[in-house]
Amino acid sequence: MPEIKEEQIVLGKNVFIPLLSEEAIQARVRDLGKQISLDYKNKVPVIIGVLNGAFVFMSDLLRNISIDCEVDFFKLSSYGDEKITSGNVSLIKELNCDVKGRELIIVEDIIDSGLSIKFIKDMISMHNPASMRIAAFLFKPNSLRYDVKIDYIGFEIPSKFVIGYGLDYAQKYRNLKSVYIINE
Ligand code: IMP
Ligand code: MG
Repeated sequence: MPEIKEEQIVLGKNVFIPLLSEEAIQARVRDLGKQISLDYKNKVPVIIGVLNGAFVFMSDLLRNISIDCEVDFFKLSSYGDEKITSGNVSLIKELNCDVKGRELIIVEDIIDSGLSIKFIKDMISMHNPASMRIAAFLFKPNSLRYDVKIDYIGFEIPSKFVIGYGLDYAQKYRNLKSVYIINE
């Protein structure tokens, strides 16, 4: 784990400072869970997590959903191991469940350019779900380059690199309980 000094995380030349506390995150995720439970009352949605980043948000969100639901995951490769997007998206792990005619909620860690979520939406649409909504823990509105509607947003944040609560830097720091933003 990184050394956390006076609330700063220093990773080589990069310094990260606190952006979202554990308490703020948990409160927001509780609200999103309540909202989804209301919106999908009497339905049984399939909650689909996008690996790896979404697994932390997804597990907290799920435990705040009080209606029946099912769970599945798929995996994309887009980012390499560093901080910049590769611009390519490909599918590494397919869904296991049959989504035809089902109500789907796609859960993402963060929407940056929107490329990944656009790819996912287009791909899943081909399987004819009854409906599809997007839940993103974080959203960088100033980075969005694709036309995608995000139905449930945890927090809107500046267009800077963040880590923690599932979000990685070179595959690490996903296990931080709060979110830190690069200080540049
Ligand atoms: P997009 O396709 O440009 O919207 O990028 C989405 C994906 O890039 C997310 O699912 C993350 O895996 C990754 N990503 C984007 N911004 C960040 C960040 O600030 N920290 C860590 N990962 C990020
Ligand atoms: Mg991701």
